[in-house]
Amino acid sequence: MTASALTEAEAAKRAAARRAVREVEDGMVLGLGTCSTAALALEALSLRIRQGLRVSGIPTSVQTAALAERLGIPLTRFAEHRRLDLAIDGADQVERRGLTLIKGLGGALLREKIVAAASRRMVVIVDETKLVDRLGGNKPLPVEIVSFGWQSVLERLAALGGSPQLRLAGAVTFVTDGGNHIADCTFGAITDPAALEARLSSVVGVVESGLFVGLASTVVIGRPSGNVEVIER
Ligand code: A5P
Repeated sequence: MTASALTEAEAAKRAAARRAVREVEDGMVLGLGTCSTAALALEALSLRIRQGLRVSGIPTSVQTAALAERLGIPLTRFAEHRRLDLAIDGADQVERRGLTLIKGLGGALLREKIVAAASRRMVVIVDETKLVDRLGGNKPLPVEIVSFGWQSVLERLAALGGSPQLRLAGAVTFVTDGGNHIADCTFGAITDPAALEARLSSVVGVVESGLFVGLASTVVIGRPSGNVEVIER
């Protein structure tokens, strides 16, 4: 990617992040997403907190917890709050029809899905490169699996047609915040995400898949110009 394409992508992500943070109201308990677009939302949130907004957030990763602490965003836990008001998070792919998502290329899909499922609303922030007519294609679907017996789990995922690849971090196996591994699966075009999610959940050793079906309430698509498109479910 050239420097100007990078700047354009960041401008688009920033536009989406700022628009999503406008939805935050005083007193809310938030879900704080992970990776580059969510980090821009944390920056925008921190600015509003410095202007007097009172909120707290549950981070979806160790990385987000550290960033939130640096930015002065108060953190909370499920021990204090079973339900969240609003989760703001990025995505790897968004299917325009139905707002189904693929998440987890950043490795935080499990906590992201728990937070999204516990939130009254989930606002997804993306640039337009993430929008697709159909999920999958050449983008892998991350599937979190337990480390014990991962070889056997990979075989079962292969039997489902997923061509799974164990995710690596350099020369070693990638380990999630929950101590699990990730199998990046390529199913081609995913015509029925709900059915695939159910099939994956039935595999012994699968913790969660990165398919988010029926969880996104709103998708904000940022453009490099600073404009946004908002799609509601
Ligand atoms: C993290 O596990 C992912 O689900 C991220 O939400 C996703 O990878 C989007 O990341 P970017 O905002 O960096 O593209």
